[in-house]
Amino acid sequence: PPATAAPATDPGTGATRPRLRSHEWFGGDDVLGFVHRSWLRNQGHPDHSFDGRPVIGICQTASDLTPCNAHLRDIAEHVKRGVYEAGGLPMEFPVTSLGEILMRPTTMLFRNLVSMDVEETLRANPLDGVVLLTGCDKTTPALLMGAASVDLPTIVVNGGAMLNGRYRGRQLGSGTDVWRFADARRTGAMSAEEFRATEACMSRSAGHCNTMGTASTMACWAESLGLTLPGMAALPAVDSRRRALAHLSGIRAVELVRENVRLSDVVTRRALENAVVVNSAIGGSTNFAVHLLAVAGRLGIPFTLADLDRLGCSIPLLVDLMPAGRFLMEDFCYAGGLPAVLRELGPLLPHPDVPTVTGRTLAENIADAEVFDREVIRPVDDPLRPDAGLAVLRGNLAPDGALIKPAAATPRLLRHGGRAVVFHGVADLHARIDTVDCDADTVFVLTGVGPRGYPGMPEVGNFGLPKRLLDAGVDDAVRISDGRMSGTAFGTVVLHVAPESAVGGPLALVRDGDWIELDVPARRLHLAVSPDELARRRAGWTPPEPAADRGWVRLYVEHVTQADTGVDLDFLRGSSGAPVPPGNH
Ligand code: FES
Ligand code: MG
Repeated sequence: PPATAAPATDPGTGATRPRLRSHEWFGGDDVLGFVHRSWLRNQGHPDHSFDGRPVIGICQTASDLTPCNAHLRDIAEHVKRGVYEAGGLPMEFPVTSLGEILMRPTTMLFRNLVSMDVEETLRANPLDGVVLLTGCDKTTPALLMGAASVDLPTIVVNGGAMLNGRYRGRQLGSGTDVWRFADARRTGAMSAEEFRATEACMSRSAGHCNTMGTASTMACWAESLGLTLPGMAALPAVDSRRRALAHLSGIRAVELVRENVRLSDVVTRRALENAVVVNSAIGGSTNFAVHLLAVAGRLGIPFTLADLDRLGCSIPLLVDLMPAGRFLMEDFCYAGGLPAVLRELGPLLPHPDVPTVTGRTLAENIADAEVFDREVIRPVDDPLRPDAGLAVLRGNLAPDGALIKPAAATPRLLRHGGRAVVFHGVADLHARIDTVDCDADTVFVLTGVGPRGYPGMPEVGNFGLPKRLLDAGVDDAVRISDGRMSGTAFGTVVLHVAPESAVGGPLALVRDGDWIELDVPARRLHLAVSPDELARRRAGWTPPEPAADRGWVRLYVEHVTQADTGVDLDFLRGSSGAPVPPGNH
């Protein structure tokens, strides 16, 4: 039961308003109040820390194992300064950190687990608002999903990107250039020494990948949703202005609690629609789709793959960043960053009047934004591509949809028919890729890499081409899978095929030599095999063994949803809000 029923006087503003959640922990003149306050005092908090001021959680994803987020320890200190300055009490806490680089089989296997970590930690503790410290790819969606299911006042502070990579006078983009170097190493065009030298030149500072990969995409997503202060996404990780923004975010976190602006007041259907448009304009990662659908699911906002295509497909590509273009996040910052893109979009931005965490609308936030480099941020009437969005394909090979990013594909392959060469799983792919019978028109199919089949839906959809084709100068071919691809990757790659092969999707039924037609302009993905023959093959199909009989992976495979609904766990969709749980004493 509540310790006291009296409304609280905010020590910062003197205003009287309903008690904060944290008051249920710290406000009691009884054993519970004693216990909650007393143990925290061992950190040196004076008595007035518990006078009813907003308690702001700082959700920390720094980890030595997540190099992209390691500097968030320092960023958290700046958030705390702001929280204190505004009269709040900051409480930094760790959640499981997802490092894209080291975690196997894929961080995506753990995104939903971390979302549960965030959700339960927020609800179980005396927190009135939260600052989400994000960076590496999955840290942003995992934290957003968890926070959405609690729906406290929420603000995002992302860690920012690494400085531009440089090697022998040329720019190196995180991830994007790795694929090229790896191909060059395989063919012998690059020596082992050179290969090692480029490693050091690629990652020159704290921060996440500096291409428009998933991490940058997610940072721009948070900003376009109105969940960050303006300009947050593009500032380099090491830029002192990022620390200032972290400080200001701490202040706003306290004010958001006082104003009772919850996450769901900011992340609405209209905000998500803005985000889809922005993601096209920046050339954002294909992973955007599953993360957006998952967050929408948590908030109970109906959103479909068809919405993604409809809203985003005709939006021009304005930002010339790798992998679709030439530049890197540092250049994007100096060119004006996301506010400049939002302003440049003008009437293409469907809902400029949405509220944001600044207390102003999105349009008000960017009213003074300017483009400082027209090479990096192009005008709407002279874009890099006229249509940059994710295209959603359908057909008998993907009844529930599949994705392709035309901006990262080879134009002549966007309408293509070819004979299939099928690999069943990653091991089969690696074992046979260099020996299969194929040519430049072959359509390479990889099954068994969907959300359930290869638990976590790894980023293998842009798998390397046979050495024979590379040697012959073929640098792209149509590839189709139920997996994902890295946001830093490129190619004519059809991804996220749903339903996946492991649950009996038609992808499981493709055989070598089948004719497959890809027609991106018509949004079609067709397997030219008769329904009778497909039925025969289906009768002979047996589902794969479950990937695990215990632990997290078992829970995951038993409950994970398909790509078209965000690869969330079925029981995690929706929200449980932030009721104060009963005490323990
Ligand atoms: Fe962390 Fe790319 S590996 S953002
Ligand atoms: Mg990635």
